[in-house]
Amino acid sequence: MDFFQYKDNQLFAEQVAVKDIAAQYGTPCYVYSRKTLERHYRAFTDAAAKHKHLVCYAVKANSNIAVLNVLAKMGAGFDIVSKGELARVLKAGGDPKKVVFSGVAKTRDEITYALEQNIKCFNVESKAELERISEIAACMQVQAPVSIRVNPDIDAKTHPYISTGLKENKFGIDIKQAFDVYQLACALPGIQVVGVDFHIGSQLTEVEPFLAALDKVLALIDTLKSAGIELKHLDIGGGLGVPYDGEKPPHPSAYAAQVIARLESYSSLELIFEPGRAIAANAGLLVTKVEYLKPTADKHFAIVDAGMNDMLRPSLYQAWQEIIAVTPRNDGTPEHNYDVVGPVCETGDFIGKDRTLAILPGDLLAQRSAGAYGFTMSSNYNSRPRVAEIMVDGDRAQVIRARETLESLWQGETLLSE
Ligand code: LLP
Repeated sequence: MDFFQYKDNQLFAEQVAVKDIAAQYGTPCYVYSRKTLERHYRAFTDAAAKHKHLVCYAVKANSNIAVLNVLAKMGAGFDIVSKGELARVLKAGGDPKKVVFSGVAKTRDEITYALEQNIKCFNVESKAELERISEIAACMQVQAPVSIRVNPDIDAKTHPYISTGLKENKFGIDIKQAFDVYQLACALPGIQVVGVDFHIGSQLTEVEPFLAALDKVLALIDTLKSAGIELKHLDIGGGLGVPYDGEKPPHPSAYAAQVIARLESYSSLELIFEPGRAIAANAGLLVTKVEYLKPTADKHFAIVDAGMNDMLRPSLYQAWQEIIAVTPRNDGTPEHNYDVVGPVCETGDFIGKDRTLAILPGDLLAQRSAGAYGFTMSSNYNSRPRVAEIMVDGDRAQVIRARETLESLWQGETLLSE
């Protein structure tokens, strides 16, 4: 559940009318609800309360430092995939001892920085990465805490671009080879083996693939234990889906309960979650204005001021996200089936297709579920400044990232000297 509701025919973010935010800060803009972020985070921690656990929010979903700060204040850990994300976490007041570092291509510089910051764990994705971490840690005379990311070869039944746990995907180490890699890890200098992790994909709407992967990983944990390799934590990744279009993913509490039920005989094992979307998606809206209506012989187009550079998901994954009127019309304006398209010069530039709307130019629309993988995937394509981000907290709205200026578009660029 989120805190975006209609009151007197006006869409509100908590207690602030979205139309007032648009009037004050302009469009397009992202609007987040602090209460929703907090509620979604708590859904995980409450559900896992019975077992030792840590919720490491996946920073890539929404990395604004105000969002990270809200979660850090609640005690969250963070799942990062780059030096930049770690720097953001630190800037936002996050605790590096609660940071896990995922990603297939950690550079020497990133590994060194993460060791200097004393993070909780490196989620290692290959033998070559393990050897690199060992070499750097040994040279720095520190012990690098590592987990091996295993690829359990489980079909997550999601979009192929966001499926990560199949053996043809680039992620993790084949679970069949994991035992050997653990043995190598134990023998390498500068390495302290602390855990195991997996992440099989994103926007999962069923619990079964998680449980199937979990069973394989628990069997590995048993094998390791009998060989004298005892792990401190089990990281089950992120991936829990959200309802974009009537999907019925399990509630975080049902999902966590089923995972914890499998862990009865593993009470000393800390359970780590890495949710991104489930925390942030429904805590955000993308607010956009209708610039033109363009009826053609075949279609009705609503041309809006937000494009694929602001919100890439529909173009990249054919993702469906609900589009609603900020102030629904009941003045007889005719309804049409609109393709809601942006200003970018690409046919694939749309934020929604076939949407029944009664709108006129100047009307405001809100695309829902835009809090995750929205702003973080935005770009300056077509030299469009990135939009403002606003966080609502009760009856207050605060800009947490200013709209980019024209000058910022060429920041760092220089003319040739002659
Ligand atoms: N942990 C790891 C190692 C991951 O790779 C990811 C997401 C997560 C956690 C968080 O997954 P979540 O709970 O958010 O599903 N841009 C795509 C999603 C890409 C997800 C990549 N990895 C989209 O907009 O749907």
